[in-house]
Amino acid sequence: MEIERTIPPLRQRLRAWRSSGDRIALVPTMGNLHAGHLALVERARELADRVVVSLFVNPTQFGAGEDFSSYPRTFQQDVESLTQAETDLLFAPEVKTLYPGGADGGSYVEVPQLSEVLCGASRPGHFRGVATVVCKLFNVVQPEIALFGEKDYQQLLVIRRMTRDLCFPIEIVGVPTVRDDDGLALSSRNAYLTEEQRRKAPLLYRLLTRCRERILAGERDYAALGEEARQELRAGGFEPDYFEIRNAADLTVPDPAERRLVILAAARLGRARLIDNVTLSL
Ligand code: PAF
Repeated sequence: MEIERTIPPLRQRLRAWRSSGDRIALVPTMGNLHAGHLALVERARELADRVVVSLFVNPTQFGAGEDFSSYPRTFQQDVESLTQAETDLLFAPEVKTLYPGGADGGSYVEVPQLSEVLCGASRPGHFRGVATVVCKLFNVVQPEIALFGEKDYQQLLVIRRMTRDLCFPIEIVGVPTVRDDDGLALSSRNAYLTEEQRRKAPLLYRLLTRCRERILAGERDYAALGEEARQELRAGGFEPDYFEIRNAADLTVPDPAERRLVILAAARLGRARLIDNVTLSL
């Protein structure tokens, strides 16, 4: 696996691949890779001739007081995992490479509405940071395909909309969430959980799947279902941020006739802010 830290040699390599007709996939990550990231790389290998993974802990998507400085950084371990997963190229830029004018105050990309609800409401500026860095990565790599995990459902919708609105000729592929045996979605932030919190953590996914079963069985009072789940999270030691049933296409509050739904939850458990979701079609 080649490793590039700056844009000119990366572009040179990509040009050579493109001129031999190779289809290029991009897997953007912030590192500290787990089986969820490796599932993205594996799917990318099936869909493209060359797989580029980016590893960049993006400062602009962290708010003041969030975990930017303590976010787990495990570069050597990540290089080993990506080599084993047969990644062709790792792009691991420094902040000044992607933000030549500094991370504050430069040009940015904003995806209105979708970015303002749920995680966007509790983490103001988060999706602006995500959209901006993904846009930069798209411009630098110019892949045919880019892959993102479905665990970050709202992020996936924000990126799909940005790609459409800014006319990027890139296919966005969502890859199903990878879970531990007890249902907990894999996430770098699970490392913040103590042993006891880790035992409690699967409650989030259990409540999501139970809520899905109840809707499939005919319940339609979405506000009451959300409130009940938030109470159960509190009783289970979580501090819920939201537990909401939304329209799967645009995250608006669904009317009872809506057929495609997503149930999304975010909750704090100790130091970790966990998010998860399940989708359903009626
Ligand atoms: O999902 C992530 O790891 C990040 O939000 C992403 C898409 C790599 C942008 O920094």
